Amino acid sequence: MPLVTTKEMFKKAYEGGYAIGAFNVNNMEIVQGITRAAKKLNAPVILQVSAGARKYASHGYLKAMVDAAVEETGLPIALHLDHGPDFETCKSCIDGGFTSVMIDGSSLPYEENVALTKKVVDYAHAHGVVVEGELGQLAGVEDDVNVSAEDASYTNPDQVEDFVKRTGVDSLAIAIGTSHGAYKFKPGQKPQLRFDILDEVAKRLPGFPIVLHGASSVVQEFVEDINKFGGEMPDAIGIPEDMLRESARRAVCKINVDSDLRLAMTAGIRKHFAENPTHFDPRQYLTPARENIEKAVAHKIETVLGCADKA
Ligand code: G3H
Ligand code: 13P
Ligand code: ZN
Repeated sequence: MPLVTTKEMFKKAYEGGYAIGAFNVNNMEIVQGITRAAKKLNAPVILQVSAGARKYASHGYLKAMVDAAVEETGLPIALHLDHGPDFETCKSCIDGGFTSVMIDGSSLPYEENVALTKKVVDYAHAHGVVVEGELGQLAGVEDDVNVSAEDASYTNPDQVEDFVKRTGVDSLAIAIGTSHGAYKFKPGQKPQLRFDILDEVAKRLPGFPIVLHGASSVVQEFVEDINKFGGEMPDAIGIPEDMLRESARRAVCKINVDSDLRLAMTAGIRKHFAENPTHFDPRQYLTPARENIEKAVAHKIETVLGCADKA
C-alpha cells in the first residue's frame, strides 16, 4: 500500500470514537520505533515532519525513510507537514510527495489566516493532498516561536463554520487547553481541557475531524529516568491520558505527540550511559532509545488513541 491521505483514516476514527496518533519524526530510529509499535498493534499512523525536522534531516532523507516504513509494514501511513509556516513550505512538501500538510496561520489576524489557508488548500487539493488548518493559539514552544500562557487563546467556536467553509480545509486544529512542550501546567495547577469548547465546535461542524496539538502526557516513567540519570525536569507535567482518550471519543481524530518521544529517547540514552559509560557505539545507545519510542507509541495506541487493530 502506498502512502495514504488522512481522509479515510479520519472518517473511520470519527465514526469509531478513536483517534490516530500523529508522531513527529526526525531520524531513522524515531521512524522505526513508531512504525514497529504501529505494526505490532495493527494501527494506522501519521508520521509528521516539522520545518525544523526538514532542516535537520532534509526532505529527501525523511521521505525515503517513511517510504521504507510503508514498504516494510504495509500499514496505512500518512506523511504530514507539521506547522507549515508559509505557502512555499507547504508547496514544497506537496510537490515532494507528502500526503497531508498543515498550514499554521493561527498567529495571523483571522482574515489573513483564511486567505493563506485557502491558498494552500487550493494547491493541495489540486494535487490530491489534504490540509489541516488551525484556529486559536496554544501556549508553548514550536520551532523558535514561544507563545506564553497569557498570549495563548482558546478557539472561538463562532468562527469555525465560517473558517472551514471559506478555506475548504479537511481538518481543524483547535486550542482547548493543551500546549506544546513538557511543561503544560504549573506545579499544583489542576490539568484541565475545555471539553465545552470541543463540543461546541463539534456541534457546528458535525462529522468534521478535529486535531489536538500539544497532546503529550509527559510519561512519568521517562521523566523519572531522565531525572535519575542526570536530573533537571522534576516539574514536567502533561495532559492526563484519560482526558485525551475522552477527546478521542468525541470529535478529535488526530492527536499530536512529539515531547513524549523526545523524553522516551533521552531517557533511554541517559540510562544507557549511566549504566555503561564506556559503550560509545551509537548502535548501543540508540537501541534503547528506539525501544523506548516503540514502548511509548504502543502505550499511546492502546491507552490514549484506541486505534489498535484499525489499520
Ligand atoms: O509542535 C511542534 C513539534 O513538537 C515539532 O517541534 O519544530 O522543534 O521540530 P520542532
Ligand atoms: P507535544 O509537545 O505535546 O508533544 O505536542 C506536539 C505537537 O503538537 C506537534 O505538532
Ligand atoms: Zn503542534
